[in-house]
Amino acid sequence: LLRMNFSDELVQWYIQNKRDLPWRNTNNAYIIWLSEIILQQTRVEQGMPYFNRFVEKYPDVGSFAAAHEDDILKLWQGLGYYSRGRNMLKTARLVNELYHGKFPEQYNQLIKLKGIGEYTAAAISSFSANEAKAVVDGNVYRVIARYFGIDEPINSTKGKKIFQQMADELLNHDQPGLHNQAMMEFGAMLCKPKNPACGICPVRTGCFAFINNAITTLPVKLNK
Ligand code: ADE
Repeated sequence: LLRMNFSDELVQWYIQNKRDLPWRNTNNAYIIWLSEIILQQTRVEQGMPYFNRFVEKYPDVGSFAAAHEDDILKLWQGLGYYSRGRNMLKTARLVNELYHGKFPEQYNQLIKLKGIGEYTAAAISSFSANEAKAVVDGNVYRVIARYFGIDEPINSTKGKKIFQQMADELLNHDQPGLHNQAMMEFGAMLCKPKNPACGICPVRTGCFAFINNAITTLPVKLNK
């Protein structure tokens, strides 16, 4: 019998347990960009109605680029961090010019855009085009730290490097988008910061933190 690896286990768990979220039913890079920027400092439940209103009013990057800033900020009202809304408009206008209305899907194109960092570029490129880029967000730090027993601080320079490297090595190159979604959803729904659901965890028998009773001490974060 073939032993399934870590990614396969998480992907299988994800397919069976994932939340049905509207930005997961598309490979449209513009729609995924919208969702990722809205979700940057915002919870899923809070961001969802905003996401739906933005998609309805601005179904493509061309319509977004043609909007007045006042209208974008009005639709943004209640989300906070208004610079996100302003930067989105700048990015939409630039993209519309540079790429003739088609939102880019490649990591190397995305990373150059305002408001898009490594995480967001990896998310958009892997979800929209299955580019093999590993996402590293708070969920991914937690899952990797606990499962592999990594006690390097997640907010140190060395730690960030180590976790990125491990995330890259774990990436399932046959299905990078699914793999990334699975890692994030697993961290958000099961391997939670407080009271993780180890009792129903499909990978607990191989999990360092579960075996060594270190769930509450991992991941390590430095108080800076
Ligand atoms: N938070 C940020 N991106 C997300 C996504 N794609 N799905 C769920 N929560 C998220």
